[in-house]
Amino acid sequence: MGNDGLSILSSGYAAGSRVVTNEDFARIVDTSDEWIRSRTGIVTRHFGGEGESTTTLALSAARSALEKAGISKEKIAAIICATMSADHATPSTACLLQRELSLPENIAAIDVNAACSGFVAALLACRSFLTDERPYAIVIGAEQLSRLLDFTDRTTCVLFGDGAGAVVVRKAEVPFGSCLFAKGGTEILAEGAGPEVSHIRMDGWAVFRFAVEALPAAMKETLKNAGLSVHEIDHIVCHQANERILEHVIKKEQLEDRKVYRNIDHFGNTSAASIPMAIGEMEERGLLKTGESLLLMGFGAGLTAGGVVVFYGGHDEDTQ
Ligand code: UT7
Repeated sequence: MGNDGLSILSSGYAAGSRVVTNEDFARIVDTSDEWIRSRTGIVTRHFGGEGESTTTLALSAARSALEKAGISKEKIAAIICATMSADHATPSTACLLQRELSLPENIAAIDVNAACSGFVAALLACRSFLTDERPYAIVIGAEQLSRLLDFTDRTTCVLFGDGAGAVVVRKAEVPFGSCLFAKGGTEILAEGAGPEVSHIRMDGWAVFRFAVEALPAAMKETLKNAGLSVHEIDHIVCHQANERILEHVIKKEQLEDRKVYRNIDHFGNTSAASIPMAIGEMEERGLLKTGESLLLMGFGAGLTAGGVVVFYGGHDEDTQ
């Protein structure tokens, strides 16, 4: 087995401080708790409060993951942030975090934008920086999507939330497999960048159809590349866009329901942040055990899809 897989040492997450209910939306657009719950699985989502932004949420998640990891900062090779809602076109979120976390300057600090597949893409990107001397990276998914919402458009504004998740990973002797797909399309569109970004527009049905095809295809390709069967996977963590998409894939692929983590009910769709927020929550709830395998699956705007197999748990030398 090559020394080119990834282990997650620790994680952290932060949700926007303002909880917004379906009833809150029913007061501003023609919708209902019943419609949102039954069509998406969402009950509440978090929006950033006063002073919160993509950067502050990312910082909070990354700081928490880093503190738990207990590693020497000198051994970190990269900090990579996946986001489609960066506060600035430049500097990148990752550069701002490098400073705030007092990380070394000989480090790769970059943002990745692959929308809801962003966290998977960022994990793949980090591998190219890891060496035996500096085997660690901090990989983050962070979004303040409330900034991109049109609160008169009921077809989009009820779906999204704000939050961030982060993991500290190390290069490890564990199986590795991944894939990334792209099919250029504007079914989900937000123009501009940084503070000038426009509202999100989405052809929800077209994306739904894409997701239920692309997700199983990316899952199979990732497992094939890892040389693993789905039975050897302990946890499946998919991007949280719609409960119905997950139910569809579970049924179609005959997945073990208990392996598929869901938290869309309380966080909504947080794009690149949804997978690492789920990992953070799973770790907090004691659901992750050393040596367990995770299949992480993203899909969304671009249109993009992708997957990666990672393992959970540190090594004795990590804290030396
Ligand atoms: O994270 C990025 C990836 N994104 C996704 O994966 C999103 C994938 N798509 C979806 O999750 C679903 O397509 C949506 C949740 C966005 C929409 O659900 P749907 O079951 O596909 O509904 P629809 O778009 O087919 O609309 C059905 C009806 C329409 O009314 P008419 O034309 O039948 O009269 C919509 O106008 O539901 C209406 N509608 C709403 N009604 C109440 C749309 N949004 C709402 C709403 N409240 N919020």
